[in-house]
Amino acid sequence: MSQDTKALFIIFGATGDLAHRKLYPAIYHLFKKNMLSESFAVIGTARREWSDEHYQEVVLDSIEDLTESKEHAKAFAEHFRYQSHNVKDSEHYHTLKELADTLDDEYSIEGNRIFYLSMSPSFFGTITHHLREQSLVTDNGFNRVIIEKPFGTDFESSKALNDEINDSFDEDQLYRIDHYLGKEMVQNILALRFSNRLIENSWNKDSISNIQITLSEDLGVEERGEYYDKSGALRDMVQNHVLQVVSLLTMTKPASFTTDNVRKEKLAILKALKDPVITQDENTEFVRGQYASSEDGATKGYRQEDKVAPDTLTETFVAGKIIIDTDEWRDVPVYIRTGKRLAEKTSRVDIVFKSTESDLFNDQPTLLSVLISPDEGIELTLNNKNIGPGMHLKPTQLSNLRSEDTREESPEAYEKLILDVLNGDETHFAHWGEVATSWKYVDQVRRAWDGFTDSIPFYPALTMGPKEADTLLSQQDHSWIYKA
Ligand code: BG6
Repeated sequence: MSQDTKALFIIFGATGDLAHRKLYPAIYHLFKKNMLSESFAVIGTARREWSDEHYQEVVLDSIEDLTESKEHAKAFAEHFRYQSHNVKDSEHYHTLKELADTLDDEYSIEGNRIFYLSMSPSFFGTITHHLREQSLVTDNGFNRVIIEKPFGTDFESSKALNDEINDSFDEDQLYRIDHYLGKEMVQNILALRFSNRLIENSWNKDSISNIQITLSEDLGVEERGEYYDKSGALRDMVQNHVLQVVSLLTMTKPASFTTDNVRKEKLAILKALKDPVITQDENTEFVRGQYASSEDGATKGYRQEDKVAPDTLTETFVAGKIIIDTDEWRDVPVYIRTGKRLAEKTSRVDIVFKSTESDLFNDQPTLLSVLISPDEGIELTLNNKNIGPGMHLKPTQLSNLRSEDTREESPEAYEKLILDVLNGDETHFAHWGEVATSWKYVDQVRRAWDGFTDSIPFYPALTMGPKEADTLLSQQDHSWIYKA
């Protein structure tokens, strides 16, 4: 067992939904696969008064479907302790430090600490300040901070948040989660692009007509109306997941797969994004929409959702044409769309290649689709001769989708990301430079939309968004490849 997987996790927000759904199962998977040393412990904190026993029951409940045996699950849950905690109270950090030091001794952890901030960002600065001031940060091991989104609500607020955190921790101790970066098929983008000469050589403006990213969800806002109505799809999905995927699809080949080199190239793309044109007519490069009730009336509209203002103008759908203003990419629009209550849950990328320039055939564009979730795999659509006389074409699809078994066995995003934190690998986390540059880009769209106070285009729930999203592409003789 390697030394560096020893760690004490301190989770702020341990009673929350994310901890239950994602974190405990992810840590359990690492335990089960022997990727976590026996020298680990978890302190869960939150306002509520819970006993260790109750907390361990909650942890057991979260891994119920994953366990090998009751004994194994119990052996895992015994590493968990609970501490009721008010993040603003210095005294509470002293108590926390005592418990942390005791567990450090008990499990021979040697000072390695991972602080997991899974609560409202308004507390991040307070928590990191106290961690440093009340000496929860150790001298003898590593000290890493995992930060959940949202990282601010615009550039200004994210900078203020970052400055506050930087008072206590350096950038190389910060792991900002963007769970899309932990997804297998998102990580696969660089492998596909840079390990296949066929693909590498055609990944350019001479061969690619346009790139399309679709992150669609069929669910509505569920219980998150309060957060979502202030956020909207632009902040919730575009600033982070969508722009991260854009950067991976278009970044220059890194000199090597080090964190610094990958980040440098991703940042270069984000910095090169052309300022978007936002108008209320068809010249706009970004369109928004909000779901109304479904055509059959069975699914309610966004304005009828719980904790959403009845006259809200918040967008539940965004589509955009992103232009990377470099000689390499200027002529290749990257179309993006994301939203709630769309026809289907799917995350995918479609690379639309140009037709050949010869008159020999009436060929259709070659297509490469990267299916991120729920299907995982790649599909390549090529022109083929139709069997029989003549020289007529028929599109043929080569498909490599991962089987359900493979998908179930492959590690979930949170599991991989937590393992990365244990190993000190920051490649699949959002660097401050990327976060800041992404905010500056989407802020321009936000500001323009905030000025359009009269109305918002509606789309019936469970369709693929407003018609404006189709016009965005048809103006350039393009069309969405993925049609639910
Ligand atoms: C989160 C958003 O970051 O991503 C959610 O806050 C969204 O609103 C989710 O539902 C989508 O993630 P995934 O992995 O289900 O595509």
